[in-house]
Parts: sequence; structure tokens; C-alpha cells
Amino acid sequence: MKITRFIPQVVFGENSFNDLNSFIDQAFPNKNQYTVYVIDSIHQETGLRKRLAPGSRDMVIEFNASDHEPKTADVDKVRDDILAEKAGELPRVIVGIGGGATIDVAKAVSVMLTNPGSSVDYQGWDLPKHPSVPKIGVPTLAGTGAEATRTAVLSGPVRKLGINSDYSICNGALLDPTLLRTVPADQEFYTGMDNFIHCVEASSGSAMNDMGRPFAIQAKESTENFFLKEKNYGEFMVGSFLGGCSIANSSVGICHALSYGIAFIRGYRHGIANSIVFNHLEEFYGKDVMTFRKMMEKHHIELPQGVTRGLSPEQLNKMVELAYMLEKDLISALGPDFKKILTPDKILSIYEKM
Ligand SMILES: [Fe+2]
Repeated sequence: MKITRFIPQVVFGENSFNDLNSFIDQAFPNKNQYTVYVIDSIHQETGLRKRLAPGSRDMVIEFNASDHEPKTADVDKVRDDILAEKAGELPRVIVGIGGGATIDVAKAVSVMLTNPGSSVDYQGWDLPKHPSVPKIGVPTLAGTGAEATRTAVLSGPVRKLGINSDYSICNGALLDPTLLRTVPADQEFYTGMDNFIHCVEASSGSAMNDMGRPFAIQAKESTENFFLKEKNYGEFMVGSFLGGCSIANSSVGICHALSYGIAFIRGYRHGIANSIVFNHLEEFYGKDVMTFRKMMEKHHIELPQGVTRGLSPEQLNKMVELAYMLEKDLISALGPDFKKILTPDKILSIYEKM
């Protein structure tokens, strides 16, 4: 049996950020409990931080997503800080405001508030045993679809792998397209490509079904429209959400599997790491790689070169190992015998081109 998962409540519209607290009150009416806002510290500069209106018992935690992608240690620390400050009392909701990284921190913390140990113990599929604290995703970047997926991607001491659980999916999302207007052009492109690549991988994988496919088709079209025709931020933001809905009900594929290695070893952000890899996957995703290159050309995007130059055999082996950790995704992309097609040598030959 496959249970299809969707976010139960979504607020959408220009300037809907002004309704955030009303949304929280309606969705989670217990006002005796406090709320935790996890916000990307970039929003000190964009002015969004000032527009938050926390109550006297609420907590605002800034996460510096520009500095690094979320680590298991970040999540454990935020969880510990919350419990220490509130003497173990749980919040009514955690609100993640930012790009995929910040929303993923909120999602992971919500799980770790009710599950013992370190977040390292939950990197994988369906490992948390206890229902999480509710959370709302408020994206300020379009592309990751983090507000709609089950995954909270974390880098740990030995691997980059998400907490993938029914308990890590958001209970609500607030989508305000005006929040996308402060995003720098290259970041807008790379996170947009994350969505495009999700849709390509989801649509072509065996984990997809007729229930999830329309979301991927619409999401992909919206990304192509945005980068090749007209910049409609509403359509772009909804496209990212729909891409997340499609991925929540299917799988990613070869590009995500290979991108984790260069993100882990070289520290590239998720969107750019995916773009670097996708550009070399024409053998698997031919016509979509052509469309991707058209979008890059139109927006004068130049990908980093020599990404894997100078890496040691140990580092390259680690990257192969990290790719194989996305086993479910690779089975969806290539079948149960994926290691016969995507052999370690094949992976290394693709990495060599980057
Ligand atoms: Fe992604």
C-alpha cells in the first residue's frame, strides 16, 4: 500500500506573510504554548526578520544558511537550546522561514524534540518512532520544495543524508511570492534548477505513479516558463511547492545521488551541486539536459569547472559511497540492479568530467 502525502493546510498569496500569526493561531489554537520561529539570518538584511511579531514567550532562532548547509550538530544544538530554555516544555509549532536549509532545520528539530538521541541516529528512512511537534514551512526561496517534502537533508559526521519520515513533513505552509523578490539572481537560478531536476528525476523514476505525475509535470513547466519566458513569481513559487508534492510521493534520481558527494566533499550548496552534476547526465536525462543548458545560457550562468580536480582516491571513494546511500532513489531511476549500470567506475567517469 502506498499512502500519498500532502500538506493539509496552505496559505497562498502576495503579502500573506502578514497573516503568519493568524495562520498559526487558527491552525494550532493552544495559545498557552509558545511558538519557535527558525529564520535564515539573511533576513536581518532583507528586513523580513523585523516583520516577525513573536509573542512574549515565543523563541526566535536565527540560522545562518549562507554559511553552511544544515548539520546534524546544528539540529541537536537548536533542540537542546529550546528544551533548556523552556525546561523541557514543547512548543505548539515550529515555523521555518527561509530556503530549504532553514525549513529543513525546522523539520529536523521538530522530530528531534520528541525522539531521543542525536539526529545522526535518524538519517535514513522512517527511523523516528515518535510523532513530532507540528511545523509550518515559509519558503523565501523557490525550488527546494522543502515545505512539501518528507526530507530534512542533513550533513552528519559521516554522511549527508536526510531524515525521511512521515513525522518530518510540514503540517502547513505559507507561500508568499513577494518573499522571492530579494533573492540574488544566481541563487534564484540554482534553487529553481533543484525543482526542475526533482521533476525530471521524479517523472522518469519507477517510484512515480499517476497520482504524483501531474504535480511534477506542472512544476517543471512552471520552472521552464520562469526561466525561458516570463518571471511570474506566483507561478514559480507554486511550481516549487508542487515539485515538493511530487517528490514527497516519488523519488529523486541519479543527479541527487551524485550531487551529495560533491556537496559533502567540496561544500557546494544543494542547488549548484545538482546543476554541476545534471549538466553531465545527458546519457540519462537527454532532452531535459538540453532544456537545462538553454536556461543556463539565457541567464548567463557559468558552472564551476574542475570541481573534482585534485581529489584523493579516498575522497572519490567516499563520493561513490555517498551516491550509493540513495539506494531507493537509484532503484527508482535504474532498477534493482542499478549497480550494474551505475558502477563505481561509471560514477567516477562522470565525476571526472566536472
Ligand atoms: Fe533537491
